[in-house]
Amino acid sequence: MSEDKASAPYGQPRPTDASPTRKKMTVPKVRARKGGEPLVMVTAYDATFARMLDEGGADLLLVGDSLGMVIQGNDDTLAVTVDDIIYHCRAVARGTRFAHIVGDMPFLSYNITPQEAVRNAGRLLAEGRAHSVKLEGGRAVVPVIERLVAAGIPVMAHVGLTPQSVHAMGGFRVQGRDDEGAERILEDAKAVAEAGAYALVLEGIPSDLARRITDALDIPTIGIGAGGGCDGQVLVCYDLLGLTPDLRPKFVRRFDELFERGKTAMQQYGAAVRSGEFPAEEHTFGPAPSAPPRPRAVGMGT
Ligand code: KIV
Repeated sequence: MSEDKASAPYGQPRPTDASPTRKKMTVPKVRARKGGEPLVMVTAYDATFARMLDEGGADLLLVGDSLGMVIQGNDDTLAVTVDDIIYHCRAVARGTRFAHIVGDMPFLSYNITPQEAVRNAGRLLAEGRAHSVKLEGGRAVVPVIERLVAAGIPVMAHVGLTPQSVHAMGGFRVQGRDDEGAERILEDAKAVAEAGAYALVLEGIPSDLARRITDALDIPTIGIGAGGGCDGQVLVCYDLLGLTPDLRPKFVRRFDELFERGKTAMQQYGAAVRSGEFPAEEHTFGPAPSAPPRPRAVGMGT
């Protein structure tokens, strides 16, 4: 490490995984994974987590409107704005080298007019540096998907349990459990694929329905609470890392317990400060190194 780096107290997160074989994930590569190696998608909201998840091998990072819940602390996603998503997308983009970044279209950012949808989606790509957008809905959003795709904006669709319709659904409830509901979701899935979506999130539906939809479409399906028959899976990173202590949804597997581990680290830091054990000598700066003596000037008149 150079002298400058060793003594610089702060630094920008800089992605460093220079794996020579790994290439950037793109929309055509996502599509090509239909029926092949499962796609791994996870949410991300900032540069440091994005770097960790990207270096950990995520194919896609979703800057989800779930940030309204896990970052902003709300009970639902409805208060999230386009500017919020742009802010978090930009941070995620700075920490990402390989994963495809999907920016979520927030509530009412695409449902009023297709023109507004194009403007908002365009901002997620131009200002947020996302590579594609995701939006919720079935047949009702077909005209919007068509307009976005025509404008060169790749769209990931999302059917089943659509959190932005939490009040219409009467809560975050599994959808498509009866024949009529299942048929409706299947028809919605076919319609968004037909409209040009390059992939489809299936959330909160029975696994046999998810498998039927996956078999019926030629675009990849990415499931959350939809069983193992999809072409990929997505989880909220706070859930898979164990950062949401009060929530244990059935469809989540926690791959770590970072909330508990972070709390323990905090307790250890507090104890070290209170006992005077931290900071130790190695964490402490001394005076500036003394400058080498300057050679005596030799010249005319000496
Ligand atoms: O906002 C989000 O995180 C999502 C995923 C749960 C699919 O939409």
